[in-house]
Amino acid sequence: MKKIIAIVCFFALAASTAAFATPASDSLLASYKAAGAGKADAEKGKIDWNREVVGEDGDTISCTTCHGKDLSKAGAHHKTHKVIQPMSPRANAERFTDEKKIEKWFKRNCKDVWGRECTAQEKADLLTFLLAQ
Ligand code: HEC
Repeated sequence: MKKIIAIVCFFALAASTAAFATPASDSLLASYKAAGAGKADAEKGKIDWNREVVGEDGDTISCTTCHGKDLSKAGAHHKTHKVIQPMSPRANAERFTDEKKIEKWFKRNCKDVWGRECTAQEKADLLTFLLAQ
């Protein structure tokens, strides 16, 4: 019962603070919380999103390397140059609408950029930051 109340409170809070939400993003944020994440912090998400690290091949890489600095505009894969539609849910209505897709790309991109999977907290922060764009 306590858990149910916590989840309901979480949704109420998420609805009042998140600038944008989809059923998929709400559900994922709840599952990150269930996995131990604390309050999602968009500022921390922004820092993580922009943090540059040296990748496996010696190049500097961050989330913006492919998604670009302006999330309302399309980005491009830094190696294949394939266009990546805007990450902002306002500019791209398909963003963050599919839980499996979000999780798949978090997994792949966190490994690509940081050499490891993102934690539930990092994903909650990043997703909250992205939803606000
Ligand atoms: C090597 C290029 C590349 C980098 C670097 C990259 N991404 Fe991506 N990302 C993609 C591609 C390609 C897609 C899938 C195409 C699409 O969704 O338009 C994607 C999709 C996503 C999605 C899915 C969005 C949705 O609508 O479901 C998320 C979340 C995401 N990336 C987060 C990140 C994060 C966080 C980082 C930094 C840790 C990052 N990406 C770095 C290429 C990249």
